[in-house]
Amino acid sequence: MTETAKGDTCGNSCCDMDGNSGNILNKKLPAGETLNGIKRTMMCAEVSEADIDNEVLIMGWVNKARNLGSMIFAVIRDRTGLLQTVFREENDPELYEKASLLRGEYVVAVRGTVRHRGEGAVNKDMPTGSIEVEASELKILSCADTPPIYIVEDLDAGELLRLKYRYLDLRRPDMQKNLLLRHRVVRSVREFYNDAGFIDVETPVLTRSTPEGARDYLVPSRIRKGAFYALPQSPQLFKQLLMVSGIDRYYQIAKCFRDEDLRVDRQPEFTQIDVEMSFVEPSDVMEINEKMIRKVFSEILGLEFTAPFIKMKYSEAMQRYGSDKPDTRFGMELADITDIAAGTAFRVFSEAAESGGSIKCININGGASFFKRKDIDSLTEYARTYKAKGLTWISFDGDGGIRSSAMKFLAETEIRAIASRAGSQQGDLILIAADKNKIVYDVLGQLRNEVAARMGMISPGTYSFLWVTEFPMFEYNDEENRWDPKHHPFTAPMDEDTGLLDSDPGKVRAKAYDIILNGNEIGGGSIRIHDRVLQEKIFTLLGMSDKETAEKFGFLLQAFRYGTPPHGGIAFGLDRIIMLMAGASSIRDVIAFPKVQNASCPMTEAPAC
Ligand code: AMO
Repeated sequence: MTETAKGDTCGNSCCDMDGNSGNILNKKLPAGETLNGIKRTMMCAEVSEADIDNEVLIMGWVNKARNLGSMIFAVIRDRTGLLQTVFREENDPELYEKASLLRGEYVVAVRGTVRHRGEGAVNKDMPTGSIEVEASELKILSCADTPPIYIVEDLDAGELLRLKYRYLDLRRPDMQKNLLLRHRVVRSVREFYNDAGFIDVETPVLTRSTPEGARDYLVPSRIRKGAFYALPQSPQLFKQLLMVSGIDRYYQIAKCFRDEDLRVDRQPEFTQIDVEMSFVEPSDVMEINEKMIRKVFSEILGLEFTAPFIKMKYSEAMQRYGSDKPDTRFGMELADITDIAAGTAFRVFSEAAESGGSIKCININGGASFFKRKDIDSLTEYARTYKAKGLTWISFDGDGGIRSSAMKFLAETEIRAIASRAGSQQGDLILIAADKNKIVYDVLGQLRNEVAARMGMISPGTYSFLWVTEFPMFEYNDEENRWDPKHHPFTAPMDEDTGLLDSDPGKVRAKAYDIILNGNEIGGGSIRIHDRVLQEKIFTLLGMSDKETAEKFGFLLQAFRYGTPPHGGIAFGLDRIIMLMAGASSIRDVIAFPKVQNASCPMTEAPAC
């Protein structure tokens, strides 16, 4: 169909048919008409060629209206998609006149007969592009001001503006797809646990602190002045108490609240698929929950994972990938060159080794020509954000030449030895970090991801799952001078390591496991301590006084006196799973009303004074 509209529109729903933006014409219109008994017969995109010659009544928003002189085309949009309606002056001048008032985002009801558009007029980009509705009745249910954002897919608008007008942003097809995906995933998850004998139990939101490593959100009590409820960082303590109650298999799609710095994969309130089971060991929890993930990915994305997800010990994950949540869609594993590099004349290396640190590297296939000097500088800057003091590089150029930032200090034999350890060939680039172990792991673990992203190594639509097991039970908090739990304080130590609790807490491994998808932690859990005495001991080891323990966790310890089954569980980050399934780059895109960086909501302006 040729565009011969009266006046040129921007082609989007923000402009009226005369190319004017604004709602001048609204003034002529009465307040929105009511339905007055009419009923929708079909959703827009449900109408098909099978309905040709049938009468339908559709309701929705005007996606775009075009006046071609004696004909008005109005494309109507609802949750299912688009459908074109046509109003002809020759058929009904009064109806045509009314249709000429239509503007983008007006809400209408249109009755009419479904017709084929005619071969030349088929719009192949629209699922209903071969048909249109010859209108016989129009109700204008609601007028609309010019929306501040376009209601289109792949909108290029500032996120703040989108979130301020989130209800409009959610009209956009890509956002509707995400919400629908989320709905289908939740339904599939519930089906899985219901069928597997789990009971859905709700736990309180106004409660006491549940430590998960973040700050609590507090709610003042009206009745007890000066007292506060804490919003749960997770239902952890309640699900354990439900095991004491004999619930045996519990699940809940639970809201959690954590006051922590926001990132693309973190929100102050987020949703967990929370699970707890009695009489289980780590492999039982991993096995059944892996089945849930398989079911969801098969049902929703049509992806079948035949082999069991790989299980990797924490220590191996760190050594190979520098991270406890490695992206296993690509290799580029770390190589330890401490023994080779420590004895070189390069002080950065020798000093790192002497002070108990290490020297490790990654080898980038084809990196020598891909990364120019300025790119290596920017990778170095990137490494600095993870506390690297610098980055050493060796480039094996295609012509056989070798260049390095430490050329002056490294003998050729040393360079060859490093290359052989790293598996380098001509055309490769080695990036080396020398520092305390933690910094080396952090820097190279992050550089792996950054390099893979810059080189486009990851093909979209690939999903790589991994279980990481045997986490350390504690990590030392240098600032506070004490041990912190790596998972949470209710996690059980591995049986063979309990003897180390007093002598060497840093070496104790926990019965804890995380599930990783494409480098994202999508879930984590553990077997819990079900013995009161051991739980008290762990609280003491974490630096808590008896008084503090009694105040904060007295109810849990009390419960453990009355017969506690061995139990364990896991919680999945639902938002993160949906983000990855949707191919979104932030969990904000899969949450209907998310918060921004400073934990505020641009639409409601919460928090308010
Ligand atoms: P954990 O703290 O590891 O474990 O949380 C479980 C999963 O929840 C997701 N997650 C988040 N998602 C979005 N925004 C956040 N701020 C956020 N924080 C965590 C992650 C994470 O893997 N009670 C334990 C579970 C257990 O032991 O059973 C817990 O909450 O995907």
